Amino acid sequence: MFEALKSQFQKIGGRKITSLFEDENRATEFSLRSGKILFDYSKTNIDSATQSALLDLLEVSRFSQKRADMFSGAKINRTEDRAVLHTALRNLDGHPIQVDGEDIMPEVLETLGAMQTFSDAVRSGTYVGRGGAITDVVNIGIGGSDLGPAMAALALSPYHDGPACHFVSNIDAAHIVDTLRNLNPETTLVIVASKTFTTIETMTNAITAFDWMAKTVQDPAAQFVALSTAADKTAAFGIPSERVFGFADWVGGRYSLWGPIGLSLMIAIGPHNFEAFLRGAQTMDQHFLTAEPQHNMPVMLALVGIWHNQVCGYHTRAFLPYDQRLTRLPAYLQQLEMESNGKRVTMQGEDVSYGSGPVVWGEPGTNGQHAFYQLIHQGTQIVPSEFLVAAKGHEPDLGHHHTLLLANCLAQSQALMLGRSFSATREIGAAKGISGADLDKWANHRVFPGNRPSTTLIYPKLTPEILGKIIALYEHRVFVEGVILNINSFDQWGVELGKELASALEPVLKSGKASQDQDPSTRNLMKFIRGQ
Ligand code: F6P
Repeated sequence: MFEALKSQFQKIGGRKITSLFEDENRATEFSLRSGKILFDYSKTNIDSATQSALLDLLEVSRFSQKRADMFSGAKINRTEDRAVLHTALRNLDGHPIQVDGEDIMPEVLETLGAMQTFSDAVRSGTYVGRGGAITDVVNIGIGGSDLGPAMAALALSPYHDGPACHFVSNIDAAHIVDTLRNLNPETTLVIVASKTFTTIETMTNAITAFDWMAKTVQDPAAQFVALSTAADKTAAFGIPSERVFGFADWVGGRYSLWGPIGLSLMIAIGPHNFEAFLRGAQTMDQHFLTAEPQHNMPVMLALVGIWHNQVCGYHTRAFLPYDQRLTRLPAYLQQLEMESNGKRVTMQGEDVSYGSGPVVWGEPGTNGQHAFYQLIHQGTQIVPSEFLVAAKGHEPDLGHHHTLLLANCLAQSQALMLGRSFSATREIGAAKGISGADLDKWANHRVFPGNRPSTTLIYPKLTPEILGKIIALYEHRVFVEGVILNINSFDQWGVELGKELASALEPVLKSGKASQDQDPSTRNLMKFIRGQ
């Protein structure tokens, strides 16, 4: 499938990215804008020929039709027989979208309205806990029911003017204990966020939180909210329907931040800012739907990804936000990308004959510079690095910090591309008085091979609207890559086996008895545990 592109890559050989800048328009031709966001991919080895071959992949994979299918509510998640309509959650104009012959938009907008009313009540102190106005909100959820709101709440902390938000996800008791330790149960609101309302981590933590609250609050359920598709299960838990915010199965967990799962974020930043966040995403949806492929940011971001992973064979992707408040973005994108495109079979259930989604990782700059950038600059693997940075920060009084942040971000992509040659390094050594064989050795350790690809996404300032656009951009990028790879980006069967085995192991561990049913390695580990 990628053979033509691979042979183009072979032909390119060791061509320097810098040589591509002989075309004086490259910086503008290999970058594009969507509203206020600029995506620059000029520091990659993509030239016009490869770009057009990459664009051809869209035709072959019937991208336009598949994009239309997704937005119109066709059941493109075939293994679960579901539509994929997270875009409906930000369809603020409410134009009709049919699922199974029914317009889903009235209910979507009604739920959004109910979330707004409830958020206002919590924020204004109309809704109270036993001890008065709510001071703290604890969102209990995991995966998509945690990463989205946790990432966005941190990203938008300059907009927080509601109660403090906390997030508990891990089954490790340390997480809930450390979170609840300093909270007052009488002024805490617990949000149980779970699409299925069966996830073991979330349900265990929810019961622990309930018991914690029950020690001082007579009716803990009155300070509980549920976000779920499973109304029967939320009722069985004891949460009254007026505090259950429902959504449908056509919202995938990792795509659910835009609806009820975003309630903690809405309470923190207020309905007005939450709406700006949705508007940002909606603007990106429109761009994705209407811009020509070559000027379409999610499309080009995806094609750059395909080029690096499937064609060049660079199998990891580093997200490097130069934005401390995007600290959780790499973790969020790990789920978005790896749960979506980490698949081994095609849509038709046959083994894929090419690599699927990349390993995604990252950490904010400048911290990462003092940790793993050594490998990115001088290691033996090439890591396509995706930088993100705001032109302006939220702290104008400390503008010099931001200038340094920007300088570091730009310097890193520059260093990756330019490198520093042996001869230039040797000259530096010679100027220091090093000579002979020592000089060669000295220089060799300090050479930067350069020619390492990176992209930069730059935006004016991290506002709710911009964050909405950025997240929608990555969602659509994952979609485009999935379409080209001919895989189902919307199921996640790979998480099931571990869950099943954990359920089987729990009683064995509880019983403290040896079990012959386990493999020898696991038996040995259990023996060690029993001995403690
Ligand atoms: O185990 C994976 C997963 O199903 C994710 O896809 C999902 O985001 C997460 O678990 C949480 O699921 P739920 O919202 O149903 O608790």
